[in-house]
Amino acid sequence: MSLLARLQSRSAEEVKPVNQVIGEQSSLHDEAIKPGKTKESVVERFPDTKVAVKRKIDNPSEEYLELKSLTLKFILKERKNDNLEEIVADMDTIIADILKENENINAVGNLDKLKAELTNDLTGYGPINPLLLDEEISEIMVNGPKQVYAERAGKIVLTDVTFRDNEHVMAVLEKIVAPLGRRIDESSPMVDARLKDGSRVNAIIPPLALGGPTITIRKFSKDPFTVKDLIRFGTLTEEMAEFIKACVEAKLNIFVSGGTGSGKTTTLNVLSSFISNTDRIVTIEDAAELQLGQEHVVSLETRPPNIEGKGSISIRDLVRNSLRMRPDRIVIGEVRSGEALDMLQAMNTGHDGSLATGHSNSPRDMVSRLETMVLMAGMDLPIRAIREQIAGALHVIIQQSRLKDGTRRITNITEVQGLEGDVIVLQDIFVFKQFGVDPDGKINGKLVPTGIRPHFYEQMEYEGIHLPASIFIEKE
Ligand SMILES: Nc1ncnc2c1ncn2[C@@H]1O[C@H](COP(=O)(O)OP(=O)(O)O)[C@@H](O)[C@H]1O
Ligand SMILES: [Mg+2]
Repeated sequence: MSLLARLQSRSAEEVKPVNQVIGEQSSLHDEAIKPGKTKESVVERFPDTKVAVKRKIDNPSEEYLELKSLTLKFILKERKNDNLEEIVADMDTIIADILKENENINAVGNLDKLKAELTNDLTGYGPINPLLLDEEISEIMVNGPKQVYAERAGKIVLTDVTFRDNEHVMAVLEKIVAPLGRRIDESSPMVDARLKDGSRVNAIIPPLALGGPTITIRKFSKDPFTVKDLIRFGTLTEEMAEFIKACVEAKLNIFVSGGTGSGKTTTLNVLSSFISNTDRIVTIEDAAELQLGQEHVVSLETRPPNIEGKGSISIRDLVRNSLRMRPDRIVIGEVRSGEALDMLQAMNTGHDGSLATGHSNSPRDMVSRLETMVLMAGMDLPIRAIREQIAGALHVIIQQSRLKDGTRRITNITEVQGLEGDVIVLQDIFVFKQFGVDPDGKINGKLVPTGIRPHFYEQMEYEGIHLPASIFIEKE
């Protein structure tokens, strides 16, 4: 059912608040504050919400709301059989006519804004449309109808966007999933989807989500960050960039490790950009996010099970298949489970120069998680054999973190040196040194070389990749 049809199917009584609420996208955010939490505490935690609070003050005038409500009513009644594009094209005329008929409406304020809001409600994704269009926003989190957070410049802030009620959120959700031939309802209350622009959407609804339909959108960035951007953001230094570029060129196996949203995929994309244009690259992901500039790229994506629970294709299946595709490089979006074994075996059997990411808090943690993941493959390997695989396969771990001040930093670039006894030996080559926290919450620190040259340095030289030894020495 289209949104229009849905709106039409509402009783007249329901339509009234609809129209009003649609006119009040900037409606109260006090409602969004959880019981027991004072408004101050929210503002303090999300300093940017002050902006939202301020915006709320210039509420639309009564006349503006009336005009909007009349226009919407008119459209729902008189133009119900027209297609949406036509309606949008005629919006100016419709509004002008309504203004003519209702002489009492004078000071309506910004007509462009009114048009945009109406168009959003009719064609876009409703109240969250402006957030989707805002390029500074990278993530949108709808926690039920009255609480919508967004991530802006690395900070999570409560926005002034609200939905009317659960139904309104569901209508938007349906708009997202219906074109994909998916559905979301009580029988399938969780869904992963993608917007037309590539943004990833996860939705989970009641009864599983207690606070109402919950939507998480990871926006697809139109131009992915480049290594220059990351240097500008302070994620890494020029020396570190030079170093990891050399590592990729030398076909070392590299693992990017970090928490959710720490920027692993972004860094993986940057690493991949250093791969030679002549290599055949196979990428394997749960949801295609990587955007490689090379010509010879094959992108593979997993598939969730169908409604009968059948037909799923896992990362592991794809890793295995990729080995038969004559790859020069395998790039795996995120390693979570048994595929770790196949990946390590591939790395150990000539598929050098593979890149992957994984979820963990430190390079050491990454190594032990890899051990666990290999066990998940169900092969019953002794721990020593697993460690040999890891130590033999992996060369470099790049640890990334999202710091408290919202910045993303590479906190360690670590060499996996090998196995000594039963222990995998790790050696930091670059680390993030934190000196303190500024009064404004900014973390004060610096990325520095540890002064130690990696074991593979000579190997690199041998392969004709020259790195000045000075990059391993801390500058004054
Ligand atoms: N180095 C960075 N500096 C600032 N923002 C970043 C950086 N890396 C990623 N981001 C942003 O952070 C969000 C999460 O990044 P992503 O690479 O998808 O993280 P992960 O794969 O670790 O979940 C994205 O919106 C992205 O644009
Ligand atoms: Mg990721």
